[in-house]
Order: sequence, then structure tokens, then C-alpha cells
Amino acid sequence: MGSQLRKVVILLGVFFLPIKGAVWNPEVASINILPRFAEPIPNVTVVLGRDAEIPCVVDNLGSYRAAWIKVKTKAILTIYHHVITRNYRISLKDSDNRNFLLHIKDVQESDRGGYMCQLNTIPMISQVGYLDVLIPPDIIVDKSTSDMVTREGSNVTLECKARGYPEPSITWRREDGEPIPLTQGTGQKIINISHEGEKLSITRVTRLHMGAYLCIASNGVPPSVSRRILLHVHFPPVLWVPSQLVGAQLWQDVTLDCHAEAYPQSINYWDREDGKMIISNEKYKVTLKYKSYKVHMRLTIRNIQKEDFGAYSCLTRNSLGMTEGSIKLYELSPPTSAVSNDAAGGFKLINGDFPKHQSLGSEKSSKGFQNGNNKLGPQAGTSGSSAVSFQRSMLLSYLVRILASHVWKIT
Ligand SMILES: *[C@@H]1O[C@H](CO)[C@@H](O)[C@H](O)[C@H]1NC(C)=O
Ligand SMILES: *[C@@H]1O[C@H](CO)[C@@H](O)[C@H](O)[C@H]1NC(C)=O
Ligand SMILES: *[C@@H]1O[C@H](CO)[C@@H](O)[C@H](O)[C@H]1NC(C)=O
Repeated sequence: MGSQLRKVVILLGVFFLPIKGAVWNPEVASINILPRFAEPIPNVTVVLGRDAEIPCVVDNLGSYRAAWIKVKTKAILTIYHHVITRNYRISLKDSDNRNFLLHIKDVQESDRGGYMCQLNTIPMISQVGYLDVLIPPDIIVDKSTSDMVTREGSNVTLECKARGYPEPSITWRREDGEPIPLTQGTGQKIINISHEGEKLSITRVTRLHMGAYLCIASNGVPPSVSRRILLHVHFPPVLWVPSQLVGAQLWQDVTLDCHAEAYPQSINYWDREDGKMIISNEKYKVTLKYKSYKVHMRLTIRNIQKEDFGAYSCLTRNSLGMTEGSIKLYELSPPTSAVSNDAAGGFKLINGDFPKHQSLGSEKSSKGFQNGNNKLGPQAGTSGSSAVSFQRSMLLSYLVRILASHVWKIT
């Protein structure tokens, strides 16, 4: 106890000497009974902004006086039923000669600490209760990462700092709920939905790390808070061409596919061999389907003519580079004339028989194909059994189609 508190005690003693001898006080009869605390002062925990109540219960107070003193500042808050402090948030509630209930409105962080209930006996007696002030977490924006742009292959650290009482802990998650693959200092890989700690360090960032991250600060005092950080990962375009060889019959429509990945978002277009860009018109339909950094490029060529056979290129370009995929459209002679003007079904079959040609922008398979037999395209590079199943399914689909067209003509 500091000397200042002793001064306070002395002051109290001077100004509030018990009026023991007073004839008008009936309690004087119990002259030998000294006041005592009925129970210890409890420790009170309250959330910032709420109200706190700290009770002091005294038996046999008689004409003695009870006072509340804030331990840290030694400020006298109340004496008996009077509020001394100028702090308007402090009052006494439902006080009588036994209960001194200190009421603190709209509790602030500065209210944290000890509160002494003191009786002016000689020597004085006192008890202390502690008020703890909980503070919900808050993210310190200045000290936390904002949205970030990085290149694939570099190392990044996302950081979030939070304050609150007790000290909040930070958890990282992806907004889409996907796990976050990380490499630890030891080189050990960990894949987890969430990660603990102020820092989220990602070594050798890949495009799979791109997305929205949430740092969530919590300390058991609701509400928890979160911050959303976008991680943009730049990389040059890459292409995947599912079918580099596509066969079609004259007068059919045919669709060519390319899948591109690029960020920042790429410019995507189709070329013919002569380098002319293909634009949507009666002949061509160009569609682009975007899904985050992925693009599905489709080119539909309508009513194929002799001059439409040949090479097509899908091209994709962003600020970091460009790449090109090539597709060869070759003529497929119809097995029977019955289905010559039916396009889509036949095309799907042919396309479906070329899984072995899938590669990333390689021209090799198409070169190999040119040495083979153009008219028997579908069989090139497929095994004998799949050729048989190809023919059987062709036959089946022709039957179905003839039936279907028949029905269509009747209705
Ligand atoms: C209040 O907390 C203090 C320590 O902070 C402890 O010494 C005391 O016993 C506690 N009082 C009660 C009533 O639990
Ligand atoms: C990224 O971190 C790894 C492992 O700590 C280190 O080997 C590599 O050199 C770092 N790369 C860059 C670009 O700093
Ligand atoms: C994943 O995170 C949870 C919660 O932080 C933790 O309990 C668990 O051990 C972690 N798993 C791995 C493999 O690190």
C-alpha cells in the first residue's frame, strides 16, 4: 500500500470518526460489537461497455462508515451512501446499512483493477475485489496485410494482428473452405483447412493458392472478427487441348475445344492457318467460359465445307506471355449417306475416341497422324477393340437417330 493510500485512510479516519458516543444512535448499545465483513468481495469479470457491480457486505456497521476506494489510483469513490468521485459512471445501488453495492456503468478498460471496501474502524479494516474487463477481439488494420499480388513461385506471408483482452489468437482459413497446403521450415508439407498464428507463410506460391483468405481473431469474448485478404497469383498462360485431331463430315457443324489458364486474365482468340483471327459470325461461333483463372474456349464451325478442313489455333495471351494450341480438323467420309447431314452425335463419338491424343500444346500427335490414313482417322492411335466398339456404337447411334428423325418428321 502506498503512502498516498495511507493518507487517504488517515483522512477517512479524521472525517468519519465513528460517532460512538452519540446518544441518539440506538446501535450504541452494542458498543463492543465491531463491524466485520460478512463475505469476501468477489472478483467480477465484465465485458467492455457493460455494467459491473461489486458488492461489499458488512455486519454490525453501526455508526461506522464504509467507503469504496480504487486501489490503483487511490481515489475515493464513495463514502457511506455518498458518491465522492466525479466519475459519472460510478454510483451506489440499493445501499442500506449492510450492503454497499458499487455500480460501474459502461465499463472501460481503465476500470480494470482492484476495488477496496474500507471500514473506518481503528485500525481500519478492508477487503479488495478485482474487476476484470474483457475486450472482444479487434483486427489492427494498419498492421495486417491488404490484398496481395504475387508471381507464381515466390514466397508470401499474410499477416494479421489483433488486439483484445485476453490476447486473441488468429486462425487462417480459405473463404471457399478449401485446405491450405503449406511447406514448413523443415520442408515438411502440411495440408490443413485452418492454420494458427499471426502469420501465414506460403513458400513457392502456386495458382492453387489464389483466392480469398480469412484471418479470424478470437479470444473467447464474442464476437470473433475476421478480415478478408485476396491473394492474386500471376502466371503466364498455359493451354490444354483435349482433342488435337477432330474429324468431321462435310455439311456438319463441329466444335473445337481449348482450355486455358492464365492470371491476370488472358485475351483468348482463334486463328486459322493463315493467321487470320476468327470472329463470331454466321460461319463461326466463338464462346469463352471463364471460371476464376480458367477459360474454356470453344469454336463452332457451321456447315463444314472442303476449305474448312485444316489447322486451327487457339491462342491465349496475358501480360506475362502467350501460348498457342493447335487443332487439326480432318474430313471424315460418312459410312452411309443416311446420316450425312447429322452432325453433333457423330462428332461426339469421334471426339470421344481420341483420349490418347490429349496433351498440352504438343504438335507430335498430329504429325504422327498425318503419316497415317486420313479417312480412317478415328482408328488412328486407337486399339483394335476400341475400333470395334467404335463401329458398334456408331451403328447404334445411327439407328437411334434414324428413329428420332422419323418421329420428328411425323409430328
Ligand atoms: C480474486 O483474485 C485474487 C487474485 O487476483 C485472489 O487473490 C482472490 O482470492 C480472489 N477473490 C475471490 C473472492 O475469489
Ligand atoms: C522461398 O522459400 C524457400 C524455402 O524457405 C527458399 O528455398 C526459396 O529460395 C525462397 N524463394 C524466394 C523467391 O525467395
Ligand atoms: C489441422 O488444424 C487443426 C486445428 O488447428 C489441428 O488440431 C490439427 O492438428 C491440424 N492438422 C495437421 C495435420 O496439422
